[in-house]
Amino acid sequence: MSVSVIVLAAGMGTRMNSDTPKVLHHVASAPLLHHALTAARSLEPARIVVVTGHGAEDVAKAATAFDEACECVVQDPQLGTAHAVSMAAPLLADMSGEAIVLYGDTPFIRPETLEAMLHARARHSVVVLGFEAKDPGRYGRLIADGETLHKIVEYKDATDEERAVTLCNSGVLCASAKVMFDLISKVENSNVAGEYYLTDLPELARAQGLSAGVVICDESETLGVNTRAQLAEAEAAFQSRARAEALENGVTLTAPETVFFALDTHIGRDAIIGANVLFGPAVTIESGAEVKGFCHLEGCHISRGAVVGPFARLRPGAELAEDVHVGNFVEIKNAILDEGVKVGHLTYIGDADIGEFTNIGAGTVTCNYDGVMKHRTKIGKRAFIGSDTMLVAPVTVGDDALTASGSVITDNVPAEAVALGRAKQVNKPGLATALMTRLKAIKAAKGKA
Ligand code: UD1
Ligand code: CA
Repeated sequence: MSVSVIVLAAGMGTRMNSDTPKVLHHVASAPLLHHALTAARSLEPARIVVVTGHGAEDVAKAATAFDEACECVVQDPQLGTAHAVSMAAPLLADMSGEAIVLYGDTPFIRPETLEAMLHARARHSVVVLGFEAKDPGRYGRLIADGETLHKIVEYKDATDEERAVTLCNSGVLCASAKVMFDLISKVENSNVAGEYYLTDLPELARAQGLSAGVVICDESETLGVNTRAQLAEAEAAFQSRARAEALENGVTLTAPETVFFALDTHIGRDAIIGANVLFGPAVTIESGAEVKGFCHLEGCHISRGAVVGPFARLRPGAELAEDVHVGNFVEIKNAILDEGVKVGHLTYIGDADIGEFTNIGAGTVTCNYDGVMKHRTKIGKRAFIGSDTMLVAPVTVGDDALTASGSVITDNVPAEAVALGRAKQVNKPGLATALMTRLKAIKAAKGKA
């Protein structure tokens, strides 16, 4: 059965007090929108339509960055959640199969929950996702009898008796695309807010003799982000879940509460992650690799047997093959380190290819930027780069070659050669003592003056 997902993301998010559209604020190094889209994609939908409004261009960019197949429609002005869904009608009204509405600012709906809603569709024409709220606040209330849903009442329109109900509306709603758009065309805006409410659908369905039902999920899944405080709460909730999952999956976390994951972090079984490690977007770590404390990783891949850190920074495009060692105060960007490469200390490797079993001495820098353009450094297999070598790119060092410590390498180094790119040492016998004696005399003369 085909499924279409509609993600509502037009709202301004006034209470974020921000110039950035709400759904572009980050949790786990990813915009809120990507979390909702992750849930959407778990259903392997035929179509995903994102309804944009405030910051439409940026929101659309974020949507297609997640999945090129996302289609975006602009809702302007924003006249309510039903009005928002109706923007997708031109794209989806002829779709057979199911339509599910998600909110861009509700990041934690689980795939299993959405599956349960699709199953409940066998019993009801319209299915709404509800939850028992500890503090029901201003949520819409579900007036239900067991699984049967009579109607949804928005807080603003609710009587005191209805406000006492603790079963609340998450906003997620499912129906056949046909029924959804048919009912939406009947929604009116005769309510306190003067908006077209998606929450009118259950009542409209029942008026046509169709049934509406509730599926209940845990309140933690429906955590919506409306304020910076809730954004921080969402981050904390995500991290504690991600840590528990990593441990469950056989990853050793020495100090779990100090490790921060991204939405798309992948870590293999038997990897070891030390304390205070931060994962930015797009990091994959294979089984059996080790990341020691205080590392900052983003956009990189660490293979089996590799050891990274402590205090290493891997930036986008850092590819570490098996058994690579990257030590303290090393930064690596857009570089491929083949098997067994060692970069132990105080080094910058950017825009480089390094062949297997090459050793990079302390303080080495690939000088990759001439102020205008970036250039690549290529180093062969089993090479030995002496400490404090400056590799002025574009430059190539051949297999089994060696650079002398302190060299500034501006010309290619042939395979098996030694490159000396530094001033020749000259020793002046006795000069140190003579110099010191003179300086001390000058200082003593000044003291007397
Ligand atoms: C909505 C529900 C409420 C539910 C709550 C759960 C309605 C009428 N009310 O209330 O029952 O308990 O969510 O969080 O649906 N949006 C648009 N275009 C619009 C209006 C909203 O895209 O014209 C988007 C917003 O960006 C947001 C989502 O829809 O992602 C929900 O809108 P919001 O205004 O936050 O609804 P609530 O008042 O919270
Ligand atoms: Ca809301």
